[in-house]
Amino acid sequence: MSRTAQLTIDGTSIELPAIVGSEGELGIDIATLRSKTGAITLDPGYGNTGSCESAITFIDGEQGILRYRGYDIAELAERSHFLETSYLVIHGELPDAVALDAFSRRIAEHAALAPSARGHFESFPADAHPMAVLGAMIHAASTHHPEILSRRIEDFDTHAARLIGQTATIAALDHRRSQGLPWIEPDPSLGYIENFLRMMFSPDGREVRLPSSEVVRALDVIFVLHADHEQNCSTSTVRMVASSRASLYASAAAGVSALWGPLHGGANQAVLEMLTEIHSEGDDGTRFLEQVKNKSGNRRLMGFGHRVYKNFDPRALIIKQQCDLVLARLHKADPLLDIAKKLEETALHDDYFVSRKLYPNVDFYSGIIMRAIGIPTEMFTVLFAIGRMPGWIANYKEVMEDKQGKISRPRQIYTGATRRAYVAPDERG
Ligand code: ACO
Repeated sequence: MSRTAQLTIDGTSIELPAIVGSEGELGIDIATLRSKTGAITLDPGYGNTGSCESAITFIDGEQGILRYRGYDIAELAERSHFLETSYLVIHGELPDAVALDAFSRRIAEHAALAPSARGHFESFPADAHPMAVLGAMIHAASTHHPEILSRRIEDFDTHAARLIGQTATIAALDHRRSQGLPWIEPDPSLGYIENFLRMMFSPDGREVRLPSSEVVRALDVIFVLHADHEQNCSTSTVRMVASSRASLYASAAAGVSALWGPLHGGANQAVLEMLTEIHSEGDDGTRFLEQVKNKSGNRRLMGFGHRVYKNFDPRALIIKQQCDLVLARLHKADPLLDIAKKLEETALHDDYFVSRKLYPNVDFYSGIIMRAIGIPTEMFTVLFAIGRMPGWIANYKEVMEDKQGKISRPRQIYTGATRRAYVAPDERG
């Protein structure tokens, strides 16, 4: 039975069709609202607005459910791995062995930067923020592969593979540059995570220091957990840019920019900075939490709260286990971790946080794992971007495949000055 909604504005009633998603989510289709009534909707922050229909990721924030293409995140984190999950997110199905092998090989084959890209790369200041470098290098990649501008669908898999492969390469080479370590090339014979860690930490590129299986696994799980997250700020940005028919590279670079902010992907860096600050002030977290609750100094408990998850973030439960395993394996006693545990325990029982449904999100623990592995704090958001790349690519593909798709162009309620006459400079009071 089709469902509808009635809306009455100034005595005039209209009927609007309802769209029901495959998990029963109900949306009111307001596409005809303005033409029928002259009114638009206003929803700052888009908390009540569905911007698209999508078959990639399902989230139920009340129940703490996250699924990629129907598969539960806990099952994928336990049984899948990043490249397999990337294939699933982009192509919609789990790959068979042949398809996974071809997908992984293509990523490994395209992981090296174009020789001429090295010049751009080395021209950045030594202390350039890695997110700025990542965004710039993704844009630069499209200058080395102008065929992307034709947006030929046959080339899509190659461009997608290049983005997944080169995002890790750019991240690791940027780290090497900042440390004064020599340039090295990716090693296609290694797994994605092993190659990334080798590029990050091998002093000369020849020495392959194999990290412990717990470290490789934890990083893999972090990437799986970040692979997609429905219409978050960066993914919506990717879709918006894609809607203008811009290239995959331009859209992905825009995603990097949106992800950078501390209320989004920048939160994992912000968590570590918050913990470091609390530690440097000789606080165990108690004074800090009081300031957060008093709202003095506009401080927030970073790594807590989520726009969508209002009971718990399912990714946080999984990553907390990985965090414990890595710290036990690396025998790391970390005063920042002690502060994090104290903040977590206190906040979970404090009425301020409980009444506002503020729980730890994925960023609360991912930063601690990355710190234990030796990844510098300013690179945390770059690792988020490596993980999120398949989700951006899948969303870009969905926009491109929607032949009816329109350019994203929201409206606004104008609140500025009404019409007034121009005043010459010498007549302005
Ligand atoms: N610490 C303290 N108070 C908070 C926090 C927090 N982390 N988050 C929300 N609040 C409070 C707000 O001050 C507000 O209080 P009020 O009702 O007294 O005014 C109330 O909770 C609601 O806050 P909103 O900002 O309206 O919640 P919203 O859903 O818009 O924000 C957000 C979600 C941005 C994630 C927010 O919780 C936050 O800033 N968290 C810290 C940053 C963070 O960890 N971001 C990562 C998000 S996950 C991700 O991107 C992977």
